Amino acid sequence: QQQNNWDGVPMCLYQGIWCPIFLLRPLLSLQKNFKPHDTSILLASLPKAGTTWLKALLFAIVNRDRFPIDQSPLLTTNPHKLVLSLECYYYVDQVNPDLENLPQPRVFSTHLPLNVLPPGFMINSTSKIVYVSRNPLDQFISEREFLLKNRLLPDCEPPLPLDQAFDMFCEGVHAFGPFWEHILGYWRASLENPDRVLFLQYEDMKRDTVSHVRKIAEFLGLPFSDEEEKRGMVGEISQLCSFEKLKNLETNKTGVLHGNVANSSFFRKGEIGDWRNHLSPDMAERMKEVIDAKMSGSGLKLDNYF
Ligand code: A3P
Repeated sequence: QQQNNWDGVPMCLYQGIWCPIFLLRPLLSLQKNFKPHDTSILLASLPKAGTTWLKALLFAIVNRDRFPIDQSPLLTTNPHKLVLSLECYYYVDQVNPDLENLPQPRVFSTHLPLNVLPPGFMINSTSKIVYVSRNPLDQFISEREFLLKNRLLPDCEPPLPLDQAFDMFCEGVHAFGPFWEHILGYWRASLENPDRVLFLQYEDMKRDTVSHVRKIAEFLGLPFSDEEEKRGMVGEISQLCSFEKLKNLETNKTGVLHGNVANSSFFRKGEIGDWRNHLSPDMAERMKEVIDAKMSGSGLKLDNYF
């Protein structure tokens, strides 16, 4: 098996994706055992594309009848503890995690590309997928800053020098990469099955969160009623899940997620274009060339915010 080490994370190539080795067994098990319900909701993303934000939004939208905004569990609990990843469930119990007794509808997240989800995932259920993508330059920097602060495994190596890590990223050698395969898999599925896969872009959501909250709720079959609209619930949910609000909650300032990963490390800057503070114009140009070579003809533009 081909192996590599990207920014301190040992990885192996499995079915065309770079899988962190500690997740290989959970992946094999979930491919074999996970069965979505027709009502299940799966949030899919590359790491650092906006997973935390979407977890919060999905939780708030789906559970809006259970909790008034001022009593939302999001005020006291990190979003990663409210919506867990499939990889995490199968990491903790590799044979048979108890997924049947979770509150309905079940909401999961995943960093896995569509092609390694359980075979038949798209045909054997009517479950829904919400995918969020992000400008790869910002995603790269966000992930790098995260890995500089957090050792995912106690014995993993320190991150590579920036230019080496960037080279590998541009070659698609990074966790769950190549990024273009990851993004295009969900993009194409969203064109083929718009009722099943909603494709979102982090930057669009930043520019107009409110209309995206509405769009997500409609996609999930949970549109806001006239009465909810009148009460301003869409704006309230957008506010509750905003970067500033979540970052400044006590739980996210002080708590720890698992191992040594601080809740606060999921809330860094939350900006568009922070790559400019770290990468040269030549590096951005190189990324543009990669995107053109790999994604032209797909109809998707990822460099709107370069
Ligand atoms: P930065 O490192 O650029 O600040 P993920 O949740 O997929 O791990 O991604 C983390 C990135 O999303 C970080 O980006 C983080 O600051 C940003 N983020 C977290 N919560 C957010 C929110 N509510 N709104 C917008 N961005 C958010």
